[in-house]
This record gives sequence, C-alpha cells and structure tokens, in this order.
Amino acid sequence: MRTTRPLLILAITGSLSVPLAAQAPIERRIDSLLARMTLEEKVGQLNLPSVFGPVSPAQMDLVRKGLVGGLFNLDGAQAARDIQRVAMEQSRLHIPLLLGLDVIHGYRTIFPIPLAEAGTWDPEIAEATARSAAREARAAGVNWTFAPMVDIARDPRWGRIAEGSGEDPYLGSLMAAARVRGFQTSILATAKHFAAYGGAEAGREYNTVDVSERTVRDIYLPPFKAAVDAGAGSIMSAFNEIGGVPSSANPWLTNTVLRGEWGFDGLVVSDWTSIAELIPHGIAATRADAGRLALAAGVDMDMVSQIYLDSLPALVQSGRVPIAQVDSAVRRILREKLRLGLFEDPNRGVMATPPPLDRDLARRVARESIVLLRNESGLLPLGANAKTIAVIGPLAADSAAPLGPWHTRGQPGDVVSVLTAIRERAGAGATVLHAAGTGLTDADTSGIAAAVALARRADVTVLVVGEPDSMSGEASSRARLDLPGVQERLQQAVVATGKPVVLVLMNGRPLILSWAAEHVPAIVETWFLGIETGHAVADVLFGDVNPSGRLPVSFPRTVGQIPIYYNAKNTGRPAVAGQHFPSKYLDVPNSPLFPFGYGLSYTSFGYRDLRLRGARLGPADTLVVTVTVANTGTRAGTEVAQLYVRDDVGSVTRPVRELKGFQRVALAPGETRSVEFRVPVQSLAFWDAAMKFVVEPGTFHVFVGSNSTAELDAGFEVVAP
Ligand code: BGC
Repeated sequence: MRTTRPLLILAITGSLSVPLAAQAPIERRIDSLLARMTLEEKVGQLNLPSVFGPVSPAQMDLVRKGLVGGLFNLDGAQAARDIQRVAMEQSRLHIPLLLGLDVIHGYRTIFPIPLAEAGTWDPEIAEATARSAAREARAAGVNWTFAPMVDIARDPRWGRIAEGSGEDPYLGSLMAAARVRGFQTSILATAKHFAAYGGAEAGREYNTVDVSERTVRDIYLPPFKAAVDAGAGSIMSAFNEIGGVPSSANPWLTNTVLRGEWGFDGLVVSDWTSIAELIPHGIAATRADAGRLALAAGVDMDMVSQIYLDSLPALVQSGRVPIAQVDSAVRRILREKLRLGLFEDPNRGVMATPPPLDRDLARRVARESIVLLRNESGLLPLGANAKTIAVIGPLAADSAAPLGPWHTRGQPGDVVSVLTAIRERAGAGATVLHAAGTGLTDADTSGIAAAVALARRADVTVLVVGEPDSMSGEASSRARLDLPGVQERLQQAVVATGKPVVLVLMNGRPLILSWAAEHVPAIVETWFLGIETGHAVADVLFGDVNPSGRLPVSFPRTVGQIPIYYNAKNTGRPAVAGQHFPSKYLDVPNSPLFPFGYGLSYTSFGYRDLRLRGARLGPADTLVVTVTVANTGTRAGTEVAQLYVRDDVGSVTRPVRELKGFQRVALAPGETRSVEFRVPVQSLAFWDAAMKFVVEPGTFHVFVGSNSTAELDAGFEVVAP
C-alpha cells in the first residue's frame, strides 16, 4: 500500500535519463553489491556519524574506506558535493552517502512550527511547506530529513510537543502523511520517534513511558502507520522505553508491527546515541551487548554511537550475531539509496546558489496557523480608532524566537518581527509606541513602569509575550507553564491601566492562560510562526485576514490537570455537577480552558440540519453525514467544521469522542453551505478485548460543530455483515 514510492524514484531520477545498468531491479542490484562487500564494508553502511563543523580527517578516512553509510549535519552544497565525490570515487564500491539533517519546518525559509501548522487543519498546506523545505534542503545537498515528527503529545510540559501535530491521532495521521508526501518529492523522510515518545511520565524529556499496548496501538501508532502508508522511507527509533523495553531495542515494535504488520521495507535509524543508551537504560552491560540487541530488534542504522562499526564485526565472527541480520540491515539502507537515485547522481537537485526564500507560502501558512482564543466586545480587528498603538513585551521586536526551537538554517535576519509589521501596516496615520517592559526569563521589573506609561498613552496595547524559542523542543520540559520571568507581572500591570489589551502569544506549547482568559479582552495564539511572523500577525490584528486556526491540542486550566485530552475515557463515574463521588477535582473543573479544535473568527458560524444517509451500516459501508453550516456574522470567514464519533458500547472502554473528519469551509457573510462528510465505517475500528483491530457492531453517536465540545448530534448503528 506504499503507493507513493515509485513517484519518489521518478521525481528524483527522471525515468528516461536512468542508465541501463541502473534499471536492473533494485533487489538485484543490492544482491550484487552485497556479494561484493566485505563484512567491514557491510557494517560501514550501518554507521551514521554526525559532523561537528567540517568533515573531520578521521571521518573522511572512514568514508574513503567505505565505513560510513551516511553523515549528517553537513553545511551546504559544496560540502555535500565534496563528500559524495569521496564516497563515489574513492571508496572501493562507490556507494553514495545518505546526507541527513533535521529539516523540521523549513530549511532556510522557516515556516510555522509543526504544532502551529497542525492548527491550520489543512494537510495540503502542510504538504506544500514540506515540499518547499525539501527543495531548499536538496539544493544544499541534503537527501534525508529526520522529519516529520509524528509523536502524539498529551502533555504540554513536554517541550517536544512543539515539533508534532498535537494530541489527536486522526489529525496527526493526516498531517504525517501530508508531510511525508511533501518531503519525499525530493528527499527521504523519517517518521519519528518510534514510538510513544510523547508519553513520557510527568512530561519530563526522555522519561519512562508505561502505557498499554492498546493505547500504543490506538493512540500513538496511527500517525506512524499513516506515514508508512504514504511511503515514508525511514523511521527513527525513540529514546524512551515502553513498559520496560527501550524503543531502540524493541523487536515487537520494529520487527513485528512496523515490518511484519505494516509491510514497511525502508530503513530504521536509531536516535542520537540511543543504541549506546541501552546501557544506562539497564538492558545492556556492554557496548557490544547494546549493539547486538538493537540490531536484533531491527534497528538498521546506528546514529552517532559507532557501536555497530566497532562491535559488529567481532560479534559476527564469533557467531553471536548472524550475518543475515547485518545483510538485512544493509539491504534496507541500500534500497533507500537506490530509490533516491543516489547511485545515478548524488547531486541531482543540488544548486550552486540557494533558491529564493518562499515568503508567500510562509505568510499564507503563518496566517492560517493563528488561533484567536478570545475577543470580547469585538476588540479585534483593530479599526480606525486605533490611532495610537503601544506594542509592548519582550517578544514584540524579537526576530529570533519566531524561528522556533528547531530552525535548521533559519536566520533571525529573515524574520519580520511583530513590531516591524505593525509599524508597516499602521502607516503614517497612526503612532506606534514600543517598549519591551521586561526580559523573557529574568527577574528585572525595572522596565514595567515605562511600558505601563506607554499603554496609558495608547488607544490599544498589543502585548507580545511568551516563551523564548529555547524553552520548547528537545530537552526543554517545563514543570510550570505560566509566562516565564516576570511577564505575568507585566501583563497584569498593563491590563490594570484599564485600556484595551490584545495579548499576542508566542510559545511552543499550551501555556496556562487562566488569568488572561478572565482579564485580557483579546488573546491571539501565534505559537512560533517563522519568517513571516510579523506580517501574519498584523494581517490578523488589522482584519486583512480573518483567523481560521483551531487548536490541535487542549489548553489546561492548571498544570494539575495534565495530561488532559479530549478523547479521554468516560470512567465509571463521569463528572456530575454537585455530587461528591464522581471522577473530578475539588478545585478546578475537569474541562480544559480551551478545548481541542477550538478557535474563534471575526464572524460567527452556525450549524443545523444534521442528517445521516442511512442509520444502519455494515462494516464495509461509508457513513455519509450532511450538515448545513452558516456564516451568521458580517464578515467573510473560514470555519473548520469538525465531526466526532462516539462508540457507545465496546468490548473495551472507548473514548468519549474521536475526531473522524473535518473540512475547512469558506463562507461569505450570510452564506450557508451543505457540507458532506464521508466516514468509512472501517475508520471506526479499534483494538478490541482480544487485541484484534475490528469495528464492533453496535450504536454510535456522531457530533458535528466548531470544536470537540460540539453538541449537535445524531445516532447510527453498525450491524454485523
Ligand atoms: C533528536 C532527534 C534528531 C536527532 C538528530 C536527537 O537528539 O531526538 O529528533 O533527529 O537528534 O539531530
């Protein structure tokens, strides 16, 4: 079912220009290479070192001897051409190198962080940004990205929530597939981190994960499956353990599920030194043991540990590791190199001068990613009466943070800050005042008074606060999720002026916004939007664009609610107001502050006439749902109509609802449209009491509306065939 792979080969090699020898079927070419390789050369293919600056003389020597399968973190087209020349001309078997890099949300043109982009609910735009990023990366010699990150994250303390698509397996799967398709128009994609890495206990990076096989399969694996079905050529094994088994030595995950059940024939790469980390995990006593376990579990490439290179030859010679395991790993790596067309021309698509920045796409996706969280009394968009605007806050003029925590070759100099864009858009007729007020993380309050004085002089204050980019991403877990430093004090002081305040947030995760949600009239979530941040924010603040982003993740009221996610279980004692013994807290409601799927618009939308075509369906049928969506306000706007399903009774407990469809619907003021959703009954399958993936007959409810709390509902039944 990996339908897009042949397209990838064609796109890169161009079928007509491939020489005859290269047209021999890929497996025959691999057989022929394997037959000629020494044990050392085979093990060399499994070795993936990182460069730190230029390729070192020692690494150059390894490449020449055929003892490196790929390199990563190289800088630029010339470095890539040079090292490919050494591999192709000076190594005995002329095998080209995989050249990897973490191209996460752009190479030089930096797009919104993936979490923000998931908020577009627009897989086509995610495919477009991945395609653009891949083209730029390819131009610089990169042929392999360690993206997309498809980890489901239900815990905003975990900093890497920024790199994925949020909490939902359905939205996450569509985004995963779209990004794989986009990247693989010119480079190899890697779905990571396999698996359940986002389930780290207490949200602490790299921490233990202990979830059931059912949750792994129902929640964490679907985006990986979607990536594989979309043709992803590689998968990265994760740092974490699941229930006692580290993912970089988990034969069940890699051999049984990924290769056996899903038919994946690409390569599995470890994460950075994750093979060596089997020792501190406590399942290997020596480096050799760690290597033996990882290879047996189907991890083909050893990122940075250099354990395979150092240990496998002796392990094979002593009979402790079967040569067949090495051969299989080599085969999978060579297969991807051949599919990429590297043997024919490792430099195809590499350019002497980089392509121009893709600003139009960057601005479009940044605008679509913005989520309007609050807008009391129609404060936004800013109108003609906003003659004096105070732009306050440590992120107002910042051009580094908007690049986000993993910005590859992004440059602050390419970023349009919020302040710059507001000045540009406000024009000569308005006065724009600016003060940072505070730093991002320090305790200095001396600038607050001056900032407050500006807010007093202004008609409206745009307060740009949030996290530095370094506060999310890898190794950046937080136990507190309020505004860092003294920004909460700045916020409260500015709001105390009584003047209208628009809070513009930049952050890599949901923050705790409970105070703001009560006291600040307008709240705009921008995450980290990349190089076109300022323009996109100004487009929304001034109403040139009507915001249409929707939250891909729940916003908790307080840290104590975490993990919090919409597709939770009902429990035997669901919350009932006024009763003491249901599953609840004494001090906060169970509900999030802002639910999954939530986002406002400058117009309003209404839903009516929910109809199901056929209320009794067989497992092979498709549920057809229609609903009328109306723009009930006075501005054109785009609604994200969302469809959720609840399976009323199962052989195991089922989530209270699950997203099964959505559509972006653009409507003029007063316009109505009948929107149709088609939900294959098969998409209601789950892992049942006997751990079989089935759709169980029974009754279901469907909910349609603006977010995961949608109330318009109808019932249907699935009957046995
Ligand atoms: C990260 C991966 C990344 C790798 C290579 C690791 O620390 O977990 O996501 O791809 O480094 O840079």
